[in-house]
Amino acid sequence: MSIFRKKSVASLLAQAADNEKGLKRTLGAGHLVALGIGAIIGAGLFVRTAAASAEAAGPAVTLSFVVAAIACAFAGLCYAEFSAMIPISGSAYTYAYATMGEIAAWIIGWSLVLEYALGAATVSIAWSEYLNNLLGMKIPFQWCHSPFEVSAAGLHGLVNLPALVILLALTLLLIKGTQESAFVNAIIVFLKVAIVLLFIFLGWHFIKPENHKPYFIPADAPGHGGMFQHGWGGVLGGAAIVFFAFIGFDAVSTAAQEAKNPKRDMPIGILGSLVVCTILYVLFSYVLTGVASWQEFADPAKGKEASVAYAIKTYMSQYSWMTNLVTIAILAGFSSVILVMLMGQSRVFFSMANDGLLPKVFSDLHPKFRTPYKANWILFLFVGSFAAFIPGSVAGDLTSIGTLFAFMLVCAGVIIMRKTDPDHPRPFRTPFVPLFPILGIIICFAMIISLPANTQLSALAWMLFGLVIYFTYSKSRSKLNTPK
Ligand code: ALA
Repeated sequence: MSIFRKKSVASLLAQAADNEKGLKRTLGAGHLVALGIGAIIGAGLFVRTAAASAEAAGPAVTLSFVVAAIACAFAGLCYAEFSAMIPISGSAYTYAYATMGEIAAWIIGWSLVLEYALGAATVSIAWSEYLNNLLGMKIPFQWCHSPFEVSAAGLHGLVNLPALVILLALTLLLIKGTQESAFVNAIIVFLKVAIVLLFIFLGWHFIKPENHKPYFIPADAPGHGGMFQHGWGGVLGGAAIVFFAFIGFDAVSTAAQEAKNPKRDMPIGILGSLVVCTILYVLFSYVLTGVASWQEFADPAKGKEASVAYAIKTYMSQYSWMTNLVTIAILAGFSSVILVMLMGQSRVFFSMANDGLLPKVFSDLHPKFRTPYKANWILFLFVGSFAAFIPGSVAGDLTSIGTLFAFMLVCAGVIIMRKTDPDHPRPFRTPFVPLFPILGIIICFAMIISLPANTQLSALAWMLFGLVIYFTYSKSRSKLNTPK
């Protein structure tokens, strides 16, 4: 009963062919890029850009986006190799089971909980921020903030109710099995990109050059003494924060079985959506930090919340009619990101339960809707408790750590697989192995260490808790103990 036992790639492919016979290969490269953008643009851009500039990078948050994008590109190339080689609806968890063995798969699955479940919590908190802004700040502070947050007037939060409401609505939708139709997704993608472009084009004329000076936060700025809170260190600290904005491009890999030509189109889908988003993000953050100064994004009475709406209302007054439209589009965009994350999480739980590593309750299907409804409810309780009682920045940082860690393992997986299974056909090969995966690992690790120590400790505690569950429960119940 080795903890390093593996699933064979052949058995994975056979299992996939069996399980998912019905899936049609309908998606081309363009669809995949759209799918990626649909999952990517969300709270990372519309909330965490301002947070990263206020907390760490100042106007140089543009460079933070570039650093985060480089890490994602290396990891994305590795994801592309796996998803073309094992083109099944899976995720890093499945890849790890085939390459590095059960314990690594478990660790990845466990860190994906941070990525998807806490990611959904983070975006629902952002949703609450923008909803309150749309309603003219009518929701009392206590009912839309966690107990750890204090308003400019000194009020403490109690519970974030709007975040719970959106999570509940989307959980019900998922249980009913509404496949987010390609059409609705296309409309939301169009809206999101349109808002980003509109803000870039209109906002460009409102950039005040003095807001970009100095471009880096100086070491003597009050409250910015830490190594990752000013200068180039701040760029790295900012990268770890805005890294959140890229999370989701790996969702493209879960559609591998529906791609018409996965060998060519998966890499294009993954890398194409990354390139488009990076260009949009750099321009957007340049305009946002030019229209309002980064200090305002630290101020709860100014642009700390709903930063984009704040910038338009305050500095682009002739376009203030646009604020509500932008906010509505942002809310729709957030909803689709939450939906993808909740769905991704229930799929990971589903696979882990099917493999015997989690209790069967996670893979029980609804008799009528054929969805893992029990998993969805458990997930709602779990995600909801974070969304209700934890600040968005903490949930967001934990999401980033979980994802960065999963990326590191995927990069390592490519190197390992080239050694252990060199002859398996690889329709797409990551260039410059092992250099590129190693660079991916290094940059992801650098971002992890630039996040706050408390977040690192919480993530470590989460991983240790996961190991306890693996050794006391999952290891002895793994289906690999009783091969059919
Ligand atoms: N990338 C997604 C977002 O920014 C998770 O909301």
